[in-house]
Amino acid sequence: MTFDAMLLPKAELHLHIEGTLEPELAFALAARNGVQLPFASVEELRAAYSFTDLQSFLDLYYACMEVLRTREDFRDLAAAYLRRAAAEGVRHAELFFDAQAHTARGVAFADVMGGLQDALDDAALLGLSGGLILSFLRDQPIEDAEAVWAEAKGHLDAIIGVGLDSAEVGNPAGKFEGIFAEARALGLHAVAHAGEEGGPEYVWDALRSLGAERIDHGIRSLEDPELVRHLVDQRVPLTVCPFSNVRLRAVDTLADHPLPAMLRAGLHVTVNSDDPAYFGGYAGENIEAVAEQFALGREELALLARNSVTASFASEERKAELA
Ligand code: ADE
Ligand code: ZN
Repeated sequence: MTFDAMLLPKAELHLHIEGTLEPELAFALAARNGVQLPFASVEELRAAYSFTDLQSFLDLYYACMEVLRTREDFRDLAAAYLRRAAAEGVRHAELFFDAQAHTARGVAFADVMGGLQDALDDAALLGLSGGLILSFLRDQPIEDAEAVWAEAKGHLDAIIGVGLDSAEVGNPAGKFEGIFAEARALGLHAVAHAGEEGGPEYVWDALRSLGAERIDHGIRSLEDPELVRHLVDQRVPLTVCPFSNVRLRAVDTLADHPLPAMLRAGLHVTVNSDDPAYFGGYAGENIEAVAEQFALGREELALLARNSVTASFASEERKAELA
């Protein structure tokens, strides 16, 4: 049963490609690009993976991105992730990328997009479908988001949607309303992180201000019964990331995770990995862990797998293949 859970065919819908940067690759890219990481070794870097909250993680996450400089770097990063994901049963992967964190360091938007797309094109040959979601950093000035968005409009064929991430509390979604409205009018999907550290009001905000079709995390939605009713009625998917929530102390332990309560409430839940290099496991390990922790049976695991496919932005034809 445990082995089955790990390899369950599924879609990964909440994955920051920069969060798949394993320490070994970080040091290899640092050497290739002549960049100095603020750690002496792979072991020292890995030892720093001890977080007290979202911000303490984000500080390290952005620092490690310094090693990503060229189109080849982004291709290698995504290729490594996609190989690993495919080996764990992921058949469709929608990747967030934090373009602003790269363009702010002088990396060309076209190199970021191009490298990621190269890897997705190669993965398609292995039967893995996917797409890119341009994520805006909610704690950065709107002008930075607008500058990246202006560039992204020259690459719309390579982007399936827009998202919102980074530090949640104190950074409401409203200022991104204009960009998201334009993106939706151009046919892009809209998703947003909400209800990770912030309360249910952040989920309402993402739905109302941004027209978010999926909520990333959303674990605090349970605190608002009216919100739960709305999410169930509208079948709004919540891309839940159990290891992330434990590592960033959104919950105390895996046993305290609200996943079972969310399933019981009838929410459209999917299990995902967020930043697997930092949080101790990819989609397969997350599913395996919740299966063991909550003694999930075949039917519940099949539901999680089915939810991941129906909540994806794959074409109807592809969804039928994945069903
Ligand atoms: N960026 C990368 N991982 C994130 C998370 N878990 N929450 C918000 N922003 C992120
Ligand atoms: Zn995330």
